[in-house]
Amino acid sequence: MKNLTEGNITEAVIKAIEGTREPRAKEVMSSLIRHLHAFVKEVQLTQDEWEAAIEYLYDTGQISGPTRNEFVLTSDTLGISSLVDIINSNPDGGTEASVLGPFYIEGSKMVEIGTNLIGDSEGEPTVVSGIVRTFGGDPIEGAVIDLWQTAANGLYENQDPDQPENNLRCRMLTDKDGYYQFTTIKPVSYKVPTDGPVGRMLDLQGRHAWRPSHLHYKVSADGHRNLITEVFYEGDEYIDEDSVFGVRESLAIPYNLITSEEEAEKYGVSSPFYRVKFDFELEAL
Ligand code: BEZ
Ligand code: FE
Repeated sequence: MKNLTEGNITEAVIKAIEGTREPRAKEVMSSLIRHLHAFVKEVQLTQDEWEAAIEYLYDTGQISGPTRNEFVLTSDTLGISSLVDIINSNPDGGTEASVLGPFYIEGSKMVEIGTNLIGDSEGEPTVVSGIVRTFGGDPIEGAVIDLWQTAANGLYENQDPDQPENNLRCRMLTDKDGYYQFTTIKPVSYKVPTDGPVGRMLDLQGRHAWRPSHLHYKVSADGHRNLITEVFYEGDEYIDEDSVFGVRESLAIPYNLITSEEEAEKYGVSSPFYRVKFDFELEAL
């Protein structure tokens, strides 16, 4: 392989990976190489810029660990995670997917329908309910609703040693009508972590790190594809400028303020409180 030039090096690399065993891996890697080479040529990348890119990757690895993945955050803030969600969502319908984010914990506590998750948390009481259905069909009994959100300080329980374990997260099974319900605090907008390479990148790009307020859900049921999504408050000031591009119109909903004492008593909350309804439609396998 002598006499490599800007004009022939791409084909030389593609030829070198010709023996890739998995056909799909070969397809993906060939395309990646072509696009990366085209990008380097298009911008005529300098040696300093290449070094800066390698340093970014090195720092991203250094700051990542079991409880923090800066590679995922890089993917999120460059819109890659959302693009993958969009490409892989069912074009025929069902609830749209959205980013998982780094703060999900498997196996959070199982609670009864109607549980109040507020505990000692500050915030505005909010009663959330809905139905889980099979797409275009019947309610699903025994679907697992797995929910997580931040406290009023914008931190998830696993980011904040001052919050009790499982704070503002739970799992719950839907009843025979596919119904779920819980009481929580109105989620707040918050910033994704900015103390690492992603923070430096956002700063360089003149971007903020805010996410509009949201509830995270993982919804699963036998015979159905798992759904990972988020439900947003449509009136949030950052609804049109999510730093990780997770918002979809169908996932942005109103929070209705209820002032009736009688209604508040019905749900065991103080008045006024917010009432939120969101139904999930899962794709049957
Ligand atoms: C989150 O919503 O928890 C999140 C999503 C992507 C990046 C950072 C945080
Ligand atoms: Fe979040």
